[in-house]
Amino acid sequence: MVGHMSESKPVLLTGLQPSGNLHIGNYFGALRPFVDAYGEYRSYLMVVDYHALTSLRDPEALRKNTIEAVKDYLAAGVDPKKAIIFKQSTVPAHTELAWIFDCLVTVPFLMQGHAYKDKVAKGLEANAGLFTYPMLMAADILLYDTDVVPVGEDQRQHIEYAREAATKFNNAYESLFKEPGEMIFTNVGTVPGTDGAKMSKSYKNTIPLFGSKDELAKAVMSIVTDSSGDVPANVYNIHQLISLALFKSGLEKFYQEHKGQYKVLKEALIEDLDRYLAPMRERRASITDADVARVLEDGAREAHAVSEAKMEMVRKAIGVA
Ligand code: ADP
Ligand code: TRP
Repeated sequence: MVGHMSESKPVLLTGLQPSGNLHIGNYFGALRPFVDAYGEYRSYLMVVDYHALTSLRDPEALRKNTIEAVKDYLAAGVDPKKAIIFKQSTVPAHTELAWIFDCLVTVPFLMQGHAYKDKVAKGLEANAGLFTYPMLMAADILLYDTDVVPVGEDQRQHIEYAREAATKFNNAYESLFKEPGEMIFTNVGTVPGTDGAKMSKSYKNTIPLFGSKDELAKAVMSIVTDSSGDVPANVYNIHQLISLALFKSGLEKFYQEHKGQYKVLKEALIEDLDRYLAPMRERRASITDADVARVLEDGAREAHAVSEAKMEMVRKAIGVA
């Protein structure tokens, strides 16, 4: 429980898509910056299973991915005593408030949503949930008087939508909602994949974050090395990142000494990757489903108490109570 936390700390909240199988790009771009930042705030970490329902219609996969997402964050270093970790669907205030926001914003306003347009352009079914997605996200954020929302650049517009929902409500009824700010981790840069392009699960160029040593080796051996010169850029760029994370120096010298010896260089990268990732992988293997269930239960209790207090005011303000 997060009882010892000072109430005066600013509030940080973020939502995780339960999409499974993280790669090292997700780690350096999202998990690690979160782990570095969350302790300074009263932090909420929420698995957004109702958001996932807009594009996933497989009950077993949804259940499993939700548990896996919590394990990923616990293994990456989030301490459940220092963050409120919960599942969106267990706190009914989220969908309730989303409906109220839906009644305050217009269809043309939602039509400008980049995420909606992109997903429909990619061929995803244009279901109404996908369309009103930003208002559920606004509810997620605004229920907890959130100050900052750490997200990737692609989510910037959603935070603007949350601010707009707060303004619309505050103007129409009472000033109950605080406008949140975004926290975009811009100094991280883009982690390159095995083909040199941005590492992404959609490009099948990933190095798995929790892969076994054999899986890491397989991914590294598949790194494309048809670059000109003796130093394979795709290998070096990933190696540099890991080397930095391990506080190791002398990488450039090592590559100079082993010019053109791609196998030696790749084997060295496998060793370094494994050295960096093994402790997290081991920690993850020790986390049971029962541990996750306990964490989510505690989190739901706290999230429920805070959001319900807000909803009591909201219901009075709009005239249903
Ligand atoms: P993917 O591209 O594999 O589908 P997501 O879009 O689910 O990844 O991204 C989840 C989080 O991980 C986002 O915050 C995103 O900014 C971060 N992220 C994903 N890929 C990278 C990468 N190659 N480099 C840095 N950050 C990344
Ligand atoms: N839309 C976010 C994403 O795709 C996930 C999300 C849902 C979220 N609710 C949130 C992020 C609230 C931050 C705060 O990544």
